[in-house]
Amino acid sequence: MNITSDKITDYINGFYAPLDDDLAKFRERNEEDRIPLILRETETFLAFLLMLVKPERILEIGTAYGYSALFFAKKCPDALITTIDRNEHFIPVARENFDCREEGRRIDFRTGDADAVLDEMIEESAANDSCGFDFVFIDAGKSHYREFFDRAEKLCRPGAVIVCDNIFMRGWLVDRSYEGAKRHRTNVKYMRQFLDYINERDDLSVSLLSSGDGLAVIRLSE
Ligand SMILES: C[S@@+](CC[C@H](N)C(=O)[O-])C[C@H]1O[C@@H](n2cnc3c(N)ncnc32)[C@H](O)[C@@H]1O
Repeated sequence: MNITSDKITDYINGFYAPLDDDLAKFRERNEEDRIPLILRETETFLAFLLMLVKPERILEIGTAYGYSALFFAKKCPDALITTIDRNEHFIPVARENFDCREEGRRIDFRTGDADAVLDEMIEESAANDSCGFDFVFIDAGKSHYREFFDRAEKLCRPGAVIVCDNIFMRGWLVDRSYEGAKRHRTNVKYMRQFLDYINERDDLSVSLLSSGDGLAVIRLSE
């Protein structure tokens, strides 16, 4: 479901321009095969934000076939990208998609449950004293955003930007009729708790946008 108006979204997407032919074909194939990937309007917004932030290190939670990771790598040609996924069907395809492209050399693909992988990365970064991420994209299990956020925050530099996708969950977040559906109830409850949490923290700057399926844009304090 479109959380705003189909006509407005179609209008906005009328201005969508793929970064290159490779990504255009990649998007087409993913959409045909119904593989999850960022919506066009989300991509357009991320492209704009990336131009402002100019990140050197990007962390993504939720790789799928690797579309958004490759988009980050192409949009930010000097950045290093780390992306995490646990899906055994997606992992070999994403790896192949990274291996066969020049940009894939700047993508560190980590596999496994994101909480465990992030915990390992936190240990690694403490041992190496490595500089942190300045941009994070959270696009994985919707009931785990709080766990992902808490861990990602520990890996970030001060002032880093964290973007969370699908926060309105096709409108379920605000549509009480979905509360009865057991399948969605837990996800909705955890997403609401996460959004309350980030909005209540005085040290974060937070903006909730109704673009795509809903985005939370969070800036950590300097
Ligand atoms: C919406 S898809 C990501 C789409 C991708 N960002 C893109 O735009 O091309 C979400 C992905 O998150 C992964 N995922 C969900 N929960 C996860 C978890 N706890 N740990 C690791 N990956 C997870 C799923 O396997 C799925 O591939």
